[in-house]
Amino acid sequence: MNEWQPKITTFLCNWCSYGAADLAGVSRFQYPPFFRIIRVPCSARISPKFILAAFRHGSDGVWISGCHPGDCHYLEGNYYARRKFAMLKGLLEHIGIEPGRLNFSWISSAEATKFAETAKIVADQVKALGPARYFIKKRAEVA
Ligand code: FES
Repeated sequence: MNEWQPKITTFLCNWCSYGAADLAGVSRFQYPPFFRIIRVPCSARISPKFILAAFRHGSDGVWISGCHPGDCHYLEGNYYARRKFAMLKGLLEHIGIEPGRLNFSWISSAEATKFAETAKIVADQVKALGPARYFIKKRAEVA
């Protein structure tokens, strides 16, 4: 059986969520295999351009996860990130990307269970939406 599998670009903060992903793997927690993980020093490092590029290059979803508010290793990085992403989510909806395709979470390095559970939620959400064709189709029509 050849079932469609989503491609989900995942940006994880090195200090918290990446540690949680690592711990989930070491602990052998099961979560869907659709995630292409990119390790970043802090959630603040993620430019909205990275997210748009991920969708433009065929991602069906994007998941960003960083340290809990107040726990950022660069003090205020995730506060800036939270503000940026809230604005971006509205903009993406405006250009035709369904809100369920972009997910944010705050997961500490000790929360491997939360990482695996959130991964399942994100995967289910993106799978339910199906392949992200809208943005790509619009680009093709313009060209
Ligand atoms: Fe993790 Fe800033 S260091 S979000």
